[in-house]
Amino acid sequence: MPGQNAHKTVDQATVPVRYVMEDPESLGMTQHEIETRGSAGENLLDIALDHGIEVEHACGGVCACSTCHVYVTEGMEHLSEAEEDEEDRVEEAPGLQANSRLSCQCRIMGDGPIVVKIPAWNRNAVKEAPH
Ligand code: FES
Repeated sequence: MPGQNAHKTVDQATVPVRYVMEDPESLGMTQHEIETRGSAGENLLDIALDHGIEVEHACGGVCACSTCHVYVTEGMEHLSEAEEDEEDRVEEAPGLQANSRLSCQCRIMGDGPIVVKIPAWNRNAVKEAPH
């Protein structure tokens, strides 16, 4: 289940991952940026949830929605490459860009640093139709 972190020790989490929120209030937060550390094999959704960043994840992280859409603004080469399933899904996300990824599908493969931007409409993507 995303958000559970009991298997990981602090020592393994050495890869710097910075989350930048376009609209922290929509995520119930006040900070615009949070510095975290992840470990090899972890995905960007789980790391966010472990640090209290409530990225939407309607399907529970199985690549069956596009609500966990983020922009990887730095360190794409330190993440697993998008597979066909992810590419098909992410095309459904509003605000698609060249650096769009589904955070539940991006596993850490390198040493970082990685910077992830969470779009302002992340929280509302499920509940409201796009304007
Ligand atoms: S949580 Fe549904 S695709 Fe990532």
